[in-house]
Amino acid sequence: MTSGIWKGNLFLFSVSVCSVYDLYICTKVETLANIKSLTRKEVLTQNAYSAEEIPCKIKLDANENPFNLPGPLKNELFKRMKRALLNRYPEAGAMKLRERFSEHFGVKKDMIMLGNGSDELIQILCHTLALPNASVLIPVPTFGMYKICSLNSGYEVIEVPTDKFFDLDIKPMLYLTKEKSPSLIFLSYPNNPTSNCFSQEKIEMLLECSKGLVVIDEAYYNFSKKTFLPLLKKYNNLVILRTLSKVGLAAMRIGFLIGPASLIHELDKVRLPYNLNMLSQIAAGFYLDYEQEFLAQMNDIIDGREALLSALKKIKGVKPYPADANFIFFSCDIDPDRIYRKLLEQGILVKRFSLAGGLGDFLRVTVGRPDENEEFLKSFRKVIK
Ligand SMILES: Cc1ncc(COP(=O)(O)O)c(C=O)c1O
Repeated sequence: MTSGIWKGNLFLFSVSVCSVYDLYICTKVETLANIKSLTRKEVLTQNAYSAEEIPCKIKLDANENPFNLPGPLKNELFKRMKRALLNRYPEAGAMKLRERFSEHFGVKKDMIMLGNGSDELIQILCHTLALPNASVLIPVPTFGMYKICSLNSGYEVIEVPTDKFFDLDIKPMLYLTKEKSPSLIFLSYPNNPTSNCFSQEKIEMLLECSKGLVVIDEAYYNFSKKTFLPLLKKYNNLVILRTLSKVGLAAMRIGFLIGPASLIHELDKVRLPYNLNMLSQIAAGFYLDYEQEFLAQMNDIIDGREALLSALKKIKGVKPYPADANFIFFSCDIDPDRIYRKLLEQGILVKRFSLAGGLGDFLRVTVGRPDENEEFLKSFRKVIK
């Protein structure tokens, strides 16, 4: 005999020994084979994100800072980490860092939260706003995590191809913003993989027309020096993402979300309590103490980008697009897939893209150290011949 009563959401259950066995048998058989039927169909149809390590001599595929931390700086960071009490939990919510970085970004301290990379912040945003039948609007091509996180949270993902200059195709985007009222519009600024910044005017049109949030992902801000931060005062649906991954701390997984305090208030309920581990918190504080040293590397990368861009422009059959980030997107007359493979044979790893809708095949090369850029160019010229 089983019986039970509901008290609010609490089911108070009583069951005799014999019926426990009956329940056990039938649920056991049911659950064994049912993972697929329990899983959201959008998850079933995806492949797990593959960040496969491809052996190479020169790694120019992941938009990382090619410079390691100078020795004395690294020692200082490790000295701080050595003092960490690893038996204790880190500070929940990284509140002290929120205060320090809010000053850094010139916003109030209740307008910022930190994440395990900006990837996690994209995921938290998606989880938090995932109302039934909600949608997300993105241009394509763009950074893959917007679509992955949106699908995993059950959104309809609406993709609008960029125009031939890789800028936003604003007419369909505005139309869909009005028709579908997407909860989130993700814009990578500069855009990954194309490296250009979308037109500010077009982005402001979306901000003005959208009832949902417009997320400007400024992962590559340090190379573009363009930001929407001052517009936080003007638009209450604007959210900005930043990261320390591209300035040289990719391994530490530190991202920032800056937006209205009322949004942060809700996101904090979805965020896991200790999402930023203790060593990452130490590294984030360290970054602020030594920011000038990091920024000096950024300037070297910008110089490297300009040199690489003008060298690529001079190679016949190669069409590099304007670059605002620390990588260059380009097409070539020779099959890019073949070039990719030939470069890899020489130990140089870049990234290849085959854009949907017959937009064509492209390569993306991250700006490396000067010696790496030279070697890439040398091999590339050979391959393209
Ligand atoms: C546009 C964009 N946003 C976010 C990220 C990920 O940043 P994080 O390492 O902070 O998760 C990347 C990484 O390549 C990116 O290209």
